[in-house]
Amino acid sequence: MLHGWPETDESKKLLLEQVRAFAKSEIAPKAADIDREHRFPTEIVKQLGEMGLMGMMVPEQWGGAEMDAVSYAMAMEAVSAACASSGVVMSVNNSLVCYPLQTYGNDEQKKKFLTPLARGEKLGCFALSEPGAGSDPGGLKCTAEKVSGGYKLHGSKNFITNGREADIAIVFASVDRSIGHKGICAFIVDTKSQGFQVSKLEDKLGINGSSTAALFFDNVFIPQENLLGKEGQGFRIALSTLDGGRIGIASQALGIAQAALNASKKFALEREQFGAPIAKLQAIQWFIADMATRLQAARLLTWHAAKMKDAGLKYSKEAAMAKLAAAEAAMWITTKAIQVHGGYGYTKDYPVERHFRDAKITEIYEGTSEIQRLVIADQEFANLD
Ligand code: CAA
Repeated sequence: MLHGWPETDESKKLLLEQVRAFAKSEIAPKAADIDREHRFPTEIVKQLGEMGLMGMMVPEQWGGAEMDAVSYAMAMEAVSAACASSGVVMSVNNSLVCYPLQTYGNDEQKKKFLTPLARGEKLGCFALSEPGAGSDPGGLKCTAEKVSGGYKLHGSKNFITNGREADIAIVFASVDRSIGHKGICAFIVDTKSQGFQVSKLEDKLGINGSSTAALFFDNVFIPQENLLGKEGQGFRIALSTLDGGRIGIASQALGIAQAALNASKKFALEREQFGAPIAKLQAIQWFIADMATRLQAARLLTWHAAKMKDAGLKYSKEAAMAKLAAAEAAMWITTKAIQVHGGYGYTKDYPVERHFRDAKITEIYEGTSEIQRLVIADQEFANLD
């Protein structure tokens, strides 16, 4: 069943059916083990690549599936409902790596870097955050010193999803810190370069199948041809990329929330108390009704943002609204899902404790809920009637 969008065309329905079937049969059965073992889902990522889901919006010319952002949102939701760790690996590669290469890269860069990434033959990461620059990436300290034939990269990055496995990193560093964000550049960095180090792996609350790494660059040489866009354009590249990334994370949150709702309905129909399934109790019915309503409201905001992106309109505010609503809905829904399950929900015998742990990160990465509110409020005040 497609979750209530009458305008949805046949090709999207078909895509979603295929992704849902794959997620149900191949991903979902492995999700609990992936979480427990903190195992990167190598075989799932490979299959996602073969299905065209690692470069969904990239033109076919550059190895992608040439689909729109609405299809991407739907597929991200389906994959994340099965396994949120697989979802974020897919989201980073699509939104944060393929997108800036496709949008700001030249043909040579697209051929060399974008094509294998979009085909799923290589994996990417997005290295913006630093130990002292999370919500405020304009304050980053990584430097790119100009040298003969290119740049030398020095500094640290923090909380980089896919940082351990990535073949290619989009790294943001400053050529001149005295001019603030106008000195920031985006670079395409081969993670096998000399001096490129994974310095720490985080031990996290959730999304345990994906790596979250600290990186250290010890004078990594970057050839001039690996500058993405123009010198000084890096901050804009980062923020415009994050606009699209927020649609991806909103969709991941929807998937987690949908999985928690599904598990809650199943449990409520099976669990008997006071001589009947607890689904007969109004308290439980109201939980389910509120969960479904919040989820659908967030889904429509997410698809709206994706539609604006597809239409070539400015969509920063809509993407921020979608991520804010979906992340907070996911946290609320997964909390209630545990409540519906009672004591069982607090154990690892049921999936809702994993959904609860996985949901939390969606309120934090690719801009916290507070940053989304800031983006929304800025644009509200900029548009007075
Ligand atoms: N697209 C393009 N350009 C944009 C933009 C956008 N969405 N938003 C702002 N800009 C431009 C502005 O026009 C301005 O340009 P000029 O100076 O040339 O006029 C410039 O960027 C600076 O704008 P602001 O003064 O508004 O920027 P700011 O420093 O105040 O920051 C912010 C605004 C919204 C707080 C922003 O810094 C932000 O989004 N912070 C959160 C960062 C974030 O999401 N980090 C997540 C890290 S990635 C991650 O989580 C990865 C992972 O592995 C999953």
